[in-house]
Amino acid sequence: RVKKGNVYWKHEHFLVVAHRGAAGYAPENTMAAFRKAVELKADFIELDIQMSKDGELVVIHDPTVDRTTNGVGEIRNLTYNEIKQLDAGKWFHKKFAGEKVPTLQEVLTEFSGKISFLIEIKNPNLNPEIVEKLTNILSEKQQTNDIIVQSFDFELLEKVHQQLPTLKLGLLVKYRIHGISNVQLKDWSKLVQYINPNKALITKNLVKRIHSYKMRVMPYTVRDKKSIKGLLDSKIDGVITDFPDYFIEE
Ligand code: G3P
Ligand code: CA
Repeated sequence: RVKKGNVYWKHEHFLVVAHRGAAGYAPENTMAAFRKAVELKADFIELDIQMSKDGELVVIHDPTVDRTTNGVGEIRNLTYNEIKQLDAGKWFHKKFAGEKVPTLQEVLTEFSGKISFLIEIKNPNLNPEIVEKLTNILSEKQQTNDIIVQSFDFELLEKVHQQLPTLKLGLLVKYRIHGISNVQLKDWSKLVQYINPNKALITKNLVKRIHSYKMRVMPYTVRDKKSIKGLLDSKIDGVITDFPDYFIEE
């Protein structure tokens, strides 16, 4: 399925993850973006979760609503009722006016069975209860094998694992991975199934080393066509991209 014109490395389990939904085509982290990801036949949607003042898990990237809605303020100081009044689509394009900030529950209900979910926990230090809220929601879901939870914070993933040991986990890595020791990689591999580094960190050797500890590698965030060939040549296992169609055969 990965191609085009036989240029790219082929891998039958290669996962195409639509970053914040298909964020290149629709306002990030909205139902419209997730629908677009399904339409483009991505394997996963990536989504960011934060907690409102009254404990609702909402799907939004920043700690404030300022950039991606017509409102202002920190999410932890706004109730869900206040957040759901906001327009989360118009900033991207007027044709998306009326899109809302969805709850995690709404996204899971609407898209379960249609696509899988890569859920990133944002700002856990702002919301210490977020792990418990998330694992409660996921444990009520009949199956969790279409879900991966990821974070830049390894200790947070340990807490998630304690609550829900069967859940698949991914560690996001922003920098300082090249000199990583084998001991560290082995430790990570006891907890997580995926290492998801910034795409600028990807080398063949790094991918090979991560593979030797039976973890998969899905770099973020691919927005340009020119980096695709190098990434695929490095034998990554999937990609987190704003443009899923770059990786999917018609
Ligand atoms: O999925 C990885 C990527 O989403 C991490 O960066 O800032 O887009 O959440 P960010
Ligand atoms: Ca994210």
